[in-house]
Amino acid sequence: MKSYDIAVIGGDGTGPEVTREALKVCEAAGKKFGFKLNWHPYDFGGDRYLKTGEVLPDGAVEELRKFKAIYLGAVGHPQVKPGILEKGILLRLRFELQQYINLRPVRLYRAEDCPLKDKGPEHIDFIVVRENNEGLYAGAGGFQYKGTPQEVAIQESVNTRFGVERCLKYAFDLAQKRRNGKAWKGLKPEDTAAGKTAQLTLCGKTNVLTFAFDLWWRAFNELSPKYPTVKTDYAHVDATCMWFVKNPEWFDVIVTDNMFGDIITDLAAMIQGGLGVAAGGNINPEGTSMFEPMGGSAPKYTGQNVINPIAAINAGAMMLDFLGEAEAGAAIENAAIKIINTKIKSLAAGKMGHGTREVGDLVAAAL
Ligand code: IPM
Ligand code: MN
Repeated sequence: MKSYDIAVIGGDGTGPEVTREALKVCEAAGKKFGFKLNWHPYDFGGDRYLKTGEVLPDGAVEELRKFKAIYLGAVGHPQVKPGILEKGILLRLRFELQQYINLRPVRLYRAEDCPLKDKGPEHIDFIVVRENNEGLYAGAGGFQYKGTPQEVAIQESVNTRFGVERCLKYAFDLAQKRRNGKAWKGLKPEDTAAGKTAQLTLCGKTNVLTFAFDLWWRAFNELSPKYPTVKTDYAHVDATCMWFVKNPEWFDVIVTDNMFGDIITDLAAMIQGGLGVAAGGNINPEGTSMFEPMGGSAPKYTGQNVINPIAAINAGAMMLDFLGEAEAGAAIENAAIKIINTKIKSLAAGKMGHGTREVGDLVAAAL
């Protein structure tokens, strides 16, 4: 039987609770589809930091590098100053493991979970490819005259040709293969006639960020001829936000930089039903990838069995897909859709009509 070794960082707050449900559902999928999952737990997070003063111990990154996948529950602890755990665990792993893609599918499963008027599952089904190693997240910049009235704070966006191009390539490849050869239904007749089957939208700010997005724009247009079936499209980031609300059906695959990707995917999560269902993968296609629900540690719900584990379960599905168990990944997502549509009152924490554990059980049983 095939088996996979996976590092598990439950992390802070509700992270461990939702992780438990995700692992439970992945294991049930393994039983059904004939593979075994060997979990390797790590206690990284706020509690360990408060006890030891250490965010990631020496050698942790090298140890994690041996795994093909890491499952991460959440980081963020109310007693730890913001930034320490986020930078010291999440961003450090994203960077050092060269997880250069942050992949965030946005799919609405049930019309009533969407705050937009007259929008249903047929309108909201796109995916955001967020650059995950550069941009404003690179940590470039500094202070001058800190703490004085003359203080200067500079935060620079780093965009390398190499980093931008590998991200764009990933997005083009994904657009090409994502619907298994079936055409995206948002295409116009003239696009279809021209042989297009998918659309890739570059989300940027070419009118103001005339260095960074000039590079993105040139690289995007230089790659485009290699992907004749992918229609290229461009939207400024502010307009992207407007269209997420007004016409989300205009999007198939979106590619963008790290900061814009962070922002638009929170908005996207809201139109797909909230952080209770939104999941993401930090992908290094050749190395160690890390999968996480987008919701964060939600400290106020910790230990109450009220948090929605579906985002975490979806992250598990993405992980299995990444490991090559596409059938199992799809089966988990379909089971979650079925349970949402038949058993879940609301996707919000405490309002599901079931507890966290029970939702995990329901999804596992629906596989
Ligand atoms: C996310 C989060 C992180 C980010 C934070 C916790 C550092 O908001 O995964 O989107 O900004 O990338
Ligand atoms: Mn974010």
